This record gives sequence, structure tokens and C-alpha cells, in this order.
Amino acid sequence: MKNILVTGGTGFIGSETAIALLENGYRPILVDNLSNSKEEVVDRIETITGTRPVFYKADCCDLAAFRDVFEKETIDGVIHFAGLKAVGESVSKPIEYYSNNLESTLNLLLLMREFGVKNLVFSSSATVYGVPKRVPLKEEDPVGNATNPYGETKIMIERILEDAQKADPSLNIALLRYFNPIGAHPSGLLGEDPNGIPNNLMPYICQVAVGKRKELHVFGDDYPTRDGTGIRDYIHVFDLAEGHVATLKRLEDKPGLVVYNLGTGKGTSVLELVHAFEEANGIKVPYVIDPRRSGDVAENFADVAKAEKELHWRSRFNVVDACKDAYRFQKKNPNGI
Ligand code: NAD
Ligand code: UD1
Repeated sequence: MKNILVTGGTGFIGSETAIALLENGYRPILVDNLSNSKEEVVDRIETITGTRPVFYKADCCDLAAFRDVFEKETIDGVIHFAGLKAVGESVSKPIEYYSNNLESTLNLLLLMREFGVKNLVFSSSATVYGVPKRVPLKEEDPVGNATNPYGETKIMIERILEDAQKADPSLNIALLRYFNPIGAHPSGLLGEDPNGIPNNLMPYICQVAVGKRKELHVFGDDYPTRDGTGIRDYIHVFDLAEGHVATLKRLEDKPGLVVYNLGTGKGTSVLELVHAFEEANGIKVPYVIDPRRSGDVAENFADVAKAEKELHWRSRFNVVDACKDAYRFQKKNPNGI
């Protein structure tokens, strides 16, 4: 496997994965409709790696435009990042979320069949576990009852991919359930660039740290956790990117359908992340305690034993590293990329 189609390739995780692919001798072919990223990312990948990846501006929901990429390129495997991902927005725009996330995936499956492409890595999410009955979460734990349409799209796509693989056992498909990706490329050139008010904790902390927002709102300090704030499994985006390279190697064994949690296996509370950020960057992050955010769970972290054993991969960076990298990116790109 050498030529890897990367849908959503100019996005936060896609761009970092493109770098990991280039550094490991692959040839990434990026496809993105630029709905949530900028073409400038392609230049920055070139600056970092010295190689300019192939880039197509195309919408995966536009079958003809997407087919054009398959016609022009030889594709050995696909990593499918393209999708809409804002949880809150998915509640107000469910039709857009279902149609974009499902249609892009169905088109991809049609084209993979038409062009005989057998290997696929899909970006799923820990959100598919809904409210966990136990932590750490294992891959065999029940899936269902996401708290929002975004999460439902991930559950539906997992099901579609399982069915497609059952119908064509020559397909090799990995469902990767990411926990909470944070951090940025250490160069400060690539990172998370959310539009408007950030929903997620790390981008919010970064914007408070540079003075763009007054204070962090901590959603709830009355959870049954060690300091009362929510616990999550924060994984550095570059570790996550390398997890994709490891998964491509795993697909070479022709495993059929496989599922992996990609996390660190360690839980960090909101206040612990705030303190890690302060320690990493020598800066104070003012915060206030607000009520709980609806749909949030107390605690969520991964059991990573299966990924470590079968992918021969594990996270290398800790939250302090991720806080340094995220802040560097924020300072270098105060108005985004
Ligand atoms: P992102 O928004 O930065 O990247 C997604 C990219 O897909 C964007 O560049 C966007 O322009 C593109 N895109 C969207 N719809 C498209 C379409 N129809 N055709 C072509 N391109 C399209 O998001 P990310 O954080 O890099 O996430 C990548 C994937 O990982 C998504 O599927 C997301 O749901 C999943 N995921 C992300 C997280 C997270 O916290 N970031 C957690 C779990 C899962
Ligand atoms: C959320 C989504 C999840 C998605 C993930 C992407 C929900 C319920 N889940 O996960 O589907 O895959 O983002 O990364 O929305 N927090 C604050 N203040 C803030 C922001 C967050 O205290 O301003 C707290 C939250 O209550 C939570 C933790 O920080 O305890 C992490 O929140 P966030 O970064 O939004 O991620 P998740 O909610 O875990």
C-alpha cells in the first residue's frame, strides 16, 4: 500500500496524518471541499515535510467530482476523515449532518467498489459508546444512543461499513474510535482552527490564554470524579496521526473488519488540563464554574490494550506536550490559518 486517499485531508486530523504518511514513505492524495479548512494547509504540509502532497478540491458528496479523483489516481487505501463534526451544530442542522456524513461515505463505498479499492480506515468517535456503563471503554462495549445527530452519523456509518464488509469479505475496514484529540504540530504551522466560539475544551483554553476570551467556563464541578469536573482521554493529534499509519500496516494482514480505540488510556479532568496548560506555558488561565453542559458524561477514557497489541502503537506525548503545542499554534495563528 502506497497511495493513500485522504478525504478531509486539509482538516485538523487529516493534515497531521498527511504529514505522518509522508514521513513514513506513503503518498497521500488529499481530497477536501474546504468547508472547514483552508487550501493554505497544503503549503504548510509542504513546508514541514519538504514534499507537496497531491490535493483535489472536491466534495465527496458530488459523485462525479469524487469519481474524477479515482479516475486520475491509483489508490491503494483510503482514510476517510471528511465529515461535519460540530456536536451542537448537528442538533440544529441534523439534515445537513446526516446528508453530508452519510452521502460522502456511501459515495466512497460505491467508488471503492467500482475501482477495486479494498482498504479503508474510518474516523469514528468514542461518542458511539453513548453514556458509558463502565470505564475504561473497551471496543466490545455496547454502541448506541448517541446524545446528538453527529454521534448518530458515526453509529450509522459504522453499521453501514460492517454490512458492506459482510457483503464483500475481501474488504478490509478499520473503525477507529478517537477519544479527545488535542495539540498541534510542534512547528506551530498546523492545528485546530475552529470557527466562532470553540465548543471543545482545548481550543477554548487557548483562546482564553491569548486574551481572545475573558475566562474559561468549566461545565460542572459536581461530577462524581476526583475534583468534581469531567474526565476525558486527551490524545495528542500527532499520536493519533501515527495510529493511522499503524492501522494501514494492520490492514495489510487482510483482517476484515477491525475496531480500535485510539486514546491514551489515561483520564484527565477539566481542572487537571487547565493546570497542565498553566504549567506547560507559564500562564494563568482564569476560569469560572458553570452548570453542567447537557449531554456530557462524568468520565470517559479508553482501554487501549487492543490497539497496543494489534497495531503495535501507543501514544507517546502527554497532555503537557499537547498544551505546549496547542498554545504555540494559537499564538502563531491568532486568527486561524
Ligand atoms: P475537521 O473539520 O478539521 O476536518 C474534516 C475535513 O473534512 C474538513 O477539512 C472539511 O472541510 C472536510 N469535509 C467535510 N465534509 C466534506 C465533504 N463532503 N467532502 C470533502 N471534504 C469534506 O475535523 P477533524 O477534527 O480533523 O476530524 C476528522 C474526522 O475525525 C471527522 O470525521 C470527525 O468526525 C472525526 N472525529 C474528530 C474528533 C475531534 O475531536 N476532532 C473526535 C472524534 C472523531
Ligand atoms: C465532544 C463531543 C464528542 C466529540 C468530541 C470531539 C459532546 C457531548 N461530545 O466531546 O461527540 O467527538 O467533542 O472532540 O459534545 N468543557 C468545559 N468547558 C468548555 C468546553 C468543555 O468545561 O468550554 C468540559 C466538558 O464538560 C468535558 C470536557 O471539558 O468535561 C471536554 O469537552 P469537549 O472538549 O467538548 O469534548 P467532549 O465533550 O468529551
